[in-house]
Amino acid sequence: MSTARYAVFGHPIAHSLSPLIHAAFAQLRGIALEYTAIDATPADFPAALARFAAEGGRGCNVTLPLKEAAFALSATTSERARRAGACNTLTRGDDGRWLGDNTDGAGLVRDLTSRHGLDLRARRTLLIGAGGAARGVAPSLLDAGIGELVVVNRTPERADALVDALGEPGRAHSRYWKDLRDLGDFELIVNATSAGRGNGEGFSAPLSLVNSRTAAVDVNYGEAAIPFLAWARSAGCREVVDGLGMLVEQAAEAFALWHGVRPQTDPVYAQLRERDRMLVTAD
Ligand code: ATR
Repeated sequence: MSTARYAVFGHPIAHSLSPLIHAAFAQLRGIALEYTAIDATPADFPAALARFAAEGGRGCNVTLPLKEAAFALSATTSERARRAGACNTLTRGDDGRWLGDNTDGAGLVRDLTSRHGLDLRARRTLLIGAGGAARGVAPSLLDAGIGELVVVNRTPERADALVDALGEPGRAHSRYWKDLRDLGDFELIVNATSAGRGNGEGFSAPLSLVNSRTAAVDVNYGEAAIPFLAWARSAGCREVVDGLGMLVEQAAEAFALWHGVRPQTDPVYAQLRERDRMLVTAD
């Protein structure tokens, strides 16, 4: 029998850590598989996905900027994918059609609660950003029992749309970025913007957002997380967490869907953390 094929699609995709993570999980669990990175623009993606399926692809992860397209191409979607309006994991059903899921939010919550030992319950939470990443994590944060959720975004209409889609009017609210100073303090602040992936701009927000218990989390990792995490440290946040653990945990959720077993994530996380440390020190 030929080796089972899996892949991650995105654009750009060359620096994706997903092939490394899935290969490491497979080795730990003694499963033979091939997992490659496939570059596809939104225009190319439907044809590239069809080609992958025709060549025996059984499942794939999908990253920027294809998560909404993956949702549209799925014949069936999980409830969490529907709430996010985006898919990061596709599985080929017995009928050959794609089942779409979203493991990003579950990955974030698992990283924060299991790896970092944070109790999220009742935490007043500020979510910065209202794009695909924010939509992926917001429902899981609510399900994890956070208290009030306040969403701010550079473009306020997108924050309004995200809050409307969450369907929890008593608990989730959108506010203007310019009013950050008037929002009080938060026990959890999540940066889900892509601003740090841009042109080296810093991140700035009022110190009044932070209290003695605040955990600050960036869903990005590596260089893209540096501006927000630098602000969080200087603001005195009690915990400062990047998105590397979330990346490993969302991959583990996908691996469990495909192979029916959960991989151990700590060895892979430790390996990537060391790699990240060496890359940063090498700069
Ligand atoms: P992703 O899938 O990574 O979330 P996205 O859907 O393009 O990508 O969303 C990017 C998010 O980062 C949005 O919330 C965006 O704000 P806008 O909706 O106003 O575009 C936010 N973002 C990107 N660059 C930013 C910047 N320089 N300052 C503030 N927010 C920024």
